[in-house]
Amino acid sequence: MPMNTDNHHHAPIDTRTRLVGLLGQPLGHSLSPVMHNQAFRILGLNYCYLPIEVADGDLETVTAGIAKMNFAGYNVTIPHKIRIMDCLDAVDSLAQAIGAVNTVTIRDGRSTGYNTDGIGFVRSLEAAGGLSIKGQAVMMLGSGGAARAIAMTLARQGAARIAIANRTAAKAHALAVDVNAQGRDCCQAVPLAPDALKVALRHTDILVNTTSVGMHPREGECPIPDHVLPGGLVVCDIVYNPRQTRLLNIARQKGCRLVEGLGMLVYQGAVGFQMWTGLEAPVEAMFDAISRVSSPK
Ligand code: ATR
Repeated sequence: MPMNTDNHHHAPIDTRTRLVGLLGQPLGHSLSPVMHNQAFRILGLNYCYLPIEVADGDLETVTAGIAKMNFAGYNVTIPHKIRIMDCLDAVDSLAQAIGAVNTVTIRDGRSTGYNTDGIGFVRSLEAAGGLSIKGQAVMMLGSGGAARAIAMTLARQGAARIAIANRTAAKAHALAVDVNAQGRDCCQAVPLAPDALKVALRHTDILVNTTSVGMHPREGECPIPDHVLPGGLVVCDIVYNPRQTRLLNIARQKGCRLVEGLGMLVYQGAVGFQMWTGLEAPVEAMFDAISRVSSPK
């Protein structure tokens, strides 16, 4: 393991430095470089996390080159999470079920793809909500890429039931079918209509918003009407800008336990960090690094 013995100074980049990349386009406001570089620094690891903008047509060339360089691996983001799967030597089974890869390891020149988004969500729920997913009844709002990663992971980790409500109902049905195709008949689509939500939420332990509703600059919006939310649930939002979304504010007023979206971002990164370095990620330092650059006033 390349180490820098002085924890308080930046590791100098030298011939022993190992690289980790972030492949996407545009990378604009990504928080991953700040989070990972702070994690490397705090542990005194001689690693460097580099943003690498890659145009659509160049993904194959870039990934082939990276596999031959001093990279421990990389993250993949929009728009490459799906197409990256054709550029790798292997894709792990959860990532295959999700149909997208966000984390790649390189070992002996072999690239292997994983998806840590759903695992990141579960870890953040365990850390902030203090509970295990096993046996829980979950309701998810949304059926996009993030919803897919979370639903597949929850089903594998033993959620008792998963209800999915989405603006476009056909997408919720399609996702439920794909989740159940993993072998456990635990998932069903439910209508996003207020009356149906109200009934379904009475039998829900954990509510998760996976839609972008409530995200800056539309902080005033909430994916469900206030009156359908009972007290006593765990309410999670994957939106992290702002950290306290309208949904979370309403949930707090009703006495629900809250799980902020920043946790999923940090923990999906923590899982990758461990894959690349073999070390447990310094999660608190990663939260701090992000809060410093993105703190909502
Ligand atoms: P991500 O990769 O972040 O999951 P996505 O794949 O674009 O993003 O999915 C966005 C999700 O948010 C979808 O479930 C979308 O609903 P539709 O399938 O009906 O498009 C949901 N969403 C986005 N804007 C919404 C809005 N204003 N009201 C309700 N749902 C919304």
